[in-house]
Amino acid sequence: MKIAILGGTGSIGEGFALRWAGKHDILVCSREIDKAVNAAEEYTNILLYRGMQCCGITGCGNEKAIEEADVVVLSVPYKGVISLLQKLLPMFKDQIVISLVVPMTKNGLFEYTPPEQGSAALEIQEVLPKTVKVVSSYHNVSARKLAKLELSLDYDVVVCGDDENAKQTVMELTREIKSLRPLDGGGLASSYMIESLTPFLINLAIRNGLSDLGVKFV
Ligand SMILES: NC(=O)c1ccc[n+]([C@@H]2O[C@H](COP(=O)([O-])OP(=O)(O)OC[C@H]3O[C@@H](n4cnc5c(N)ncnc54)[C@H](OP(=O)(O)O)[C@@H]3O)[C@@H](O)[C@H]2O)c1
Repeated sequence: MKIAILGGTGSIGEGFALRWAGKHDILVCSREIDKAVNAAEEYTNILLYRGMQCCGITGCGNEKAIEEADVVVLSVPYKGVISLLQKLLPMFKDQIVISLVVPMTKNGLFEYTPPEQGSAALEIQEVLPKTVKVVSSYHNVSARKLAKLELSLDYDVVVCGDDENAKQTVMELTREIKSLRPLDGGGLASSYMIESLTPFLINLAIRNGLSDLGVKFV
């Protein structure tokens, strides 16, 4: 598959590029092409240095990447995601779009501050064409651990979406990352529950002197 990572130059985008490049063509995207090209080169070198297989990591602008991709990962902060998507709307057709976007604000500790639609995922679905399949996932995965390839991520990943085939594709992508277990979280309307867990986990980590907390259902 061809996977475009919008915001692939950032914290969690790097981890997805490194983890999926062994099996998929990765497009690392940015608002600035030079930044994307540099990041793609850096990620490729990390894999080469470790002697790992790499199908190809290419840096490019957001527009070109969306047009070419089967799957588009929205790995940008909530405050910029809607205006970014509005600019890129003509490029979307029927791709799977993965939202890991968490609308939260820091007010002492962190608070979940969803839009009026109820969650970032529902707002994103409203903005994009109806033919695009939005799947909501990975909100509770640590960027730092994802980018450290020697670590196995002993987390559960709840996957929410209204299109069953798209949801199954994202669950399969999740299985490809060592030790992540995908769990079907139902429709996109359930996304607010997993989005809101992220500020809770960060606060829990701060209060208890922990880091990289995730969820595991037992
Ligand atoms: N970090 C985590 O551990 C983690 C875990 C789970 C979910 N998430 C979610 O994943 C998303 C990305 O998180 P992150 O920590 O990777 O973010 P980040 O490093 O702060 O930003 C990622 C990329 O987004 C682009 N960007 C930044 N501000 C933007 C704006 N106003 N408009 C458009 N693009 C902008 C930048 O790319 P260019 O400048 O190259 O365009 C940046 O490199 C967030 O929605 C976050 O809630 C993060």
